[in-house]
Amino acid sequence: MTKNENIDSTHSVDVLIIGGGSAGLRAAIEAHDAGANVLIISKSKRGNPHTVLARGGINAALGTMDPEDNWMIHAADTLKEGEFLADYERVEILCKSAPDAINELVNWGARFHREKEDGKLTQRFFGAHTYRRTVFYEDWTGDEIVRVLMNQVDQRRIKIMDDIYITQLLIKSDRDEEEEEEPSSKEISGAIGTDLKKRKIVLFECKSIILATGGYTRIYSTSSSRIFENYGEGIFLAYQSGVELVDMEMVQFHPTGMVWPEKASGTLATEAIRGEGGILLNSSNERFMKNYYPERMELGPRDVVARAIYNEILKGRGTEHGGVWLDVTHLSKEKILDRLPTMYEQFKSIDGIDISKEKMEVGPTAHYSMGGIVVDTKCRTKINGLFAAGEAISQIHGANRLGGNSLLDTMVFGKIAGSEAARLAKEITDDISLKVNSLPSSLSLNENTPKEFKDEIFMVKEPLVFRNKIQDLMEQYVGIIRDNARLQKGLKQLLELNEAFYSEDNILREFQIEDDKYDIENIILTLEVKSSLIVCETIVRSALMRQESRGAHFRSDFPNADNEKWMQNIYCRKNDESEMVLFTGSVKVIEGPLKDLLKSHLKPKHQREFE
Ligand code: FUM
Repeated sequence: MTKNENIDSTHSVDVLIIGGGSAGLRAAIEAHDAGANVLIISKSKRGNPHTVLARGGINAALGTMDPEDNWMIHAADTLKEGEFLADYERVEILCKSAPDAINELVNWGARFHREKEDGKLTQRFFGAHTYRRTVFYEDWTGDEIVRVLMNQVDQRRIKIMDDIYITQLLIKSDRDEEEEEEPSSKEISGAIGTDLKKRKIVLFECKSIILATGGYTRIYSTSSSRIFENYGEGIFLAYQSGVELVDMEMVQFHPTGMVWPEKASGTLATEAIRGEGGILLNSSNERFMKNYYPERMELGPRDVVARAIYNEILKGRGTEHGGVWLDVTHLSKEKILDRLPTMYEQFKSIDGIDISKEKMEVGPTAHYSMGGIVVDTKCRTKINGLFAAGEAISQIHGANRLGGNSLLDTMVFGKIAGSEAARLAKEITDDISLKVNSLPSSLSLNENTPKEFKDEIFMVKEPLVFRNKIQDLMEQYVGIIRDNARLQKGLKQLLELNEAFYSEDNILREFQIEDDKYDIENIILTLEVKSSLIVCETIVRSALMRQESRGAHFRSDFPNADNEKWMQNIYCRKNDESEMVLFTGSVKVIEGPLKDLLKSHLKPKHQREFE
């Protein structure tokens, strides 16, 4: 490797894991146990990834409350909720592996809620599940899972470097640049990042990388993610490296985020509230879900409940602050404190509301990205040595995710990714340091042309203005209800922002990362905007292309699902001219044990809405 004076330090490992959330931690444990030398790097602080916000629980067909349940019914519910856009083989892996994933967490010390009488794990209802299958720790299950995984990571002395922001994956190709490049000829060799604390550039050399970087819902102004996470950075890194993305238009809006006070807008009011008996009311105190989904009322599919709330607000039946009411005042305070203690505290501390006596004001919030990086069932991308897991990947939840399946997905596919990445690393006997054969121009910072800034660490004037504009336009034009006109407007504004962002007079020419006259916040913001611009473009273009309504993607100009034309996934990739290209691929036809079980379920579910 060429020596470069801008690099502060170089780290060599077998498996580099980007992301310190539950998928990354689970992958690290597995890779370590398979004999690999592992390093976790994380943008957020150690032990405080986005996973800690996952509230209500984790699913497995354990049958502790409803013995009729089994993995096939769990898989059928998952496929049906995703309106059959998910890959059924991945769903089978998810649901078959679920009981083992829970047992493993229990064996590692997870304090899931148990029934008083017989000590069995308690399972509660979540929306659109046939049976009670959500295991939980009070109402902060994600935090408990992170605690348990961090213990395991620490016991194994797996190193975590936090405050590192990866800006580029290093790819080695066996072929000449001019040759038509087959993706399989590409191989991962490392990554470059910024050490946010030291203000230095860091180089990582490795045999495999796992992207466990989360999703992209913070590109909306109202989101259940915190302001510093989920701008789709890992998805962007994969895209820049030539990996395909899929189902990017599928963004889940959770029905119940806080709407008031404004500073807490979007913060999750967990589905567990409805799972424990909470009801939704409009401003006339009407339990409106009976008009949208009488079969399951508040526990209908997330997309249906979110649109129902949106519609009530739109029709003028919302609350003063633009939400609806979520009410648990009919539950005993004892039950609220036992099952929903964090929610009790959250509303009390943020809004001064005692939820055992007063109603909560809630509305939809961008919550989960079903789309993401294309991987196979072993979590491999088409670049050798590049793996991905967790919310960054796709085709597990289809057009809409069941509550409680996300923590499960991070455990199941995190484990697979860790095992596969370690296996591959073992096969590579070359010296790691020989793999990084050249460094990108990114390290000569302010000597580049604007075009080259797309690939590097740089800084623009007022990145916050760009971030806010992107979030607002996504909310306004690419939100819960979409149509051609709005999407076209959104795309136009996005492309204009892109142009302005990369314009010569917007990029700071003299910027040097080491120079502490520059605010580190703005360096991060610049990077977040850079990835948001691409991720948003994939969402808008895919949403324009999908001329139907399916799951979380609702087009008022095409209000029904169209199984004839649209049992298709929409893929995006960057071509050799750096343009975004979209294409479709058919969803795999379901075979095997799930085929018969699902025959009766393949029907659209939108007709009753917005009548
Ligand atoms: O509402 C919730 O607790 C969210 C859970 C999930 O998205 O899985």
